[in-house]
Amino acid sequence: MTLTVRPVERRDYRDLLAMLVALWPKESTRDHGRQIRSILNGKPRSILPLTMFVAERDGALVGFVEVGLRSHANGCDPVRAVGFIEGWYVASHLRKQGIGRALFAAAERWCRSHGCREMASDTWTDHRRSVKAHVALGYAVEGNFVNFRKRLR
Ligand SMILES: CC(C)(COP(=O)(O)OP(=O)(O)OC[C@H]1O[C@@H](n2cnc3c(N)ncnc32)[C@H](O)[C@@H]1OP(=O)(O)O)[C@@H](O)C(=O)NCCC(=O)NCCS
Repeated sequence: MTLTVRPVERRDYRDLLAMLVALWPKESTRDHGRQIRSILNGKPRSILPLTMFVAERDGALVGFVEVGLRSHANGCDPVRAVGFIEGWYVASHLRKQGIGRALFAAAERWCRSHGCREMASDTWTDHRRSVKAHVALGYAVEGNFVNFRKRLR
């Protein structure tokens, strides 16, 4: 079986959309579709570069990573943009076989090519498996923060 990790292409749209819905079920399918199309059109909805890589095994999409640059991230040096893992997903029946690691490697290469020297990511505090997978890939838990948000009128 061959595993390929490559940048997202138009033909991936339908399968990728299904994976985004699986990872973020609370967000609307329409918003996910818009997000994918913006990246495919080279106009991501972000100020800094943002892209997606997909993992393909024997012709089927089995995972993706969404990765971008952020101007800063907790614990990272603020003098330069940091690579940030925005989303990471592998089909449930194929986990723990190295596909997530291959996706991270592609994301990190892309960030390095954009001048980053550090990577950051986040996950839900009660998501132990994701935390363990991040740690296994060399990511240290940084601080113990709760995120707040307020819309300005
Ligand atoms: C997190 C996720 C993407 C990992 O993908 P994966 O293909 O299983 O990852 P890999 O097999 O490449 O594993 C990478 C490392 O993490 C470790 N790991 C993966 N899943 C783990 C788990 N459930 N418990 C402990 N360690 C785990 C692996 O052992 C491996 O380390 P190693 O090479 O030293 O053994 C996948 O489990 C997933 O899609 N989960 C649901 C969505 C999610 O939680 N996404 C992350 C939040 S954005």
